[in-house]
Amino acid sequence: MKILVVGSGGREHALAWKISQSALVDEVYCAPGNPGMDLIGPCFDVDPCDLTKMQELVLQLSPDLVVIGPEAPLAVGLADALRARGFDVFGPSEKAAQLESSKAFSKDLMTKYDVPTAAYGRFDDLTKALDFLETMDAPYVIKADGLAAGKGVVICETLEEAENEVEAMMTGKFGEASAEIVIEEFMEGEEASIFVLTDGEGAIYLPAAQDHKRAFDGDKGPNTGGMGAYAPAPVVTPRLMELIQALIVEPMLSGMAEDDMPYQGVLYVGIMITEDGPKVVEFNARFGDPECQVLMAGLPGDIVPALLTCATGGLVHGHREISDMMGLRDFRPSATVVMATNGYPDSYPKGSIIRGIEQANALEDVIVFQAGTDGDSDGALIASGGRVLGVTATGSDLEQAITQAYAGVDVIDWPNGFHRTDIGWRALNESG
Ligand code: AMP
Ligand code: GLY
Repeated sequence: MKILVVGSGGREHALAWKISQSALVDEVYCAPGNPGMDLIGPCFDVDPCDLTKMQELVLQLSPDLVVIGPEAPLAVGLADALRARGFDVFGPSEKAAQLESSKAFSKDLMTKYDVPTAAYGRFDDLTKALDFLETMDAPYVIKADGLAAGKGVVICETLEEAENEVEAMMTGKFGEASAEIVIEEFMEGEEASIFVLTDGEGAIYLPAAQDHKRAFDGDKGPNTGGMGAYAPAPVVTPRLMELIQALIVEPMLSGMAEDDMPYQGVLYVGIMITEDGPKVVEFNARFGDPECQVLMAGLPGDIVPALLTCATGGLVHGHREISDMMGLRDFRPSATVVMATNGYPDSYPKGSIIRGIEQANALEDVIVFQAGTDGDSDGALIASGGRVLGVTATGSDLEQAITQAYAGVDVIDWPNGFHRTDIGWRALNESG
């Protein structure tokens, strides 16, 4: 079988790595890929959002399955375009991907299906938005409706700050993406990420993961795409997982199927564990990154039957067998420490040399996934992005996985990078 992985981040490197281990797979292609993915299979330098070029590539390669990693191509309809040409695709349609690409759409669906989430209002009129703000209490949560590269959510402590933010967003701060906004109630609690593989009807729940969004230790500093992750997250108890399934995932999947937009792919449910139970912070239409890295590393079995069945249907009947093939019950605790370029998430220089990846990969249970990397003209590996490496390890328990991931970080020689030293602290506190 030939599988094309679309994307170029740590998430896609982890997917390509896991897929390449399947006995069902002869070849993994990547578009556009990165230097780490290049070691797994041929990479094709095509922009995933260029639907014409992507269709040409897929017609040329004729893969048995296309796995779409990032949200941007899903939001412009790449899955629909490829399905219309008869290809099997892991990833939701443009319509279903609005769960991520429009916060207002997603909030309206949650209301319709009675799924617990923060109270909210959606606005395309500045005066009405400002009036609504006055009815809310601090802190104020203000969200751009559209995709804003993970920067579209702002939490303001005072009414004045909130008014300024609403005005900035609605007058073009994120262009079209913030012409409409959502203002919502602040939810107090601990966050976790739930990943559900689905063909629109059946569902397989992966172990809950936890991300670390802030740049620095102790959850300080600016928000980032994610500085590290671990799974399973002990805060999501089996009882809580049952509630999440019954109150959130099942009504969303059945409601969307009834409303003629069945969700196929991975549904990422960002939850807040509040005093009143789990509530949805957001949905995403893809795997989280770095969460995907810990999930792929921790699954001992074959992920391909699951990905394929999500694309073609049949999960209701097949889910037990497919979960067993994935080795879901034997999931190994795993952790990822992200190494980012000094300066990230603000501006940062490109081109610094990274050494020691082979040495890190040679350590037991360690795998380094690449994200913002490139090769220079001498063949050296250089940093070309904000988040650059995801040093990932498994262990017999979380503590061992975390220790081993840091052992990997220690042998990487990259003076221009930084990382958090406290990945997994919540889980270690809870178990210790
Ligand atoms: P989102 O992009 O919607 O996940 O928002 C980014 C982050 O903002 C979340 O991971 C939360 O930490 C925080 N956040 C979003 N909405 C709320 C809310 N209603 N209450 C508290 N925190 C929130
Ligand atoms: N790690 C958070 C995200 O992928 O959105």
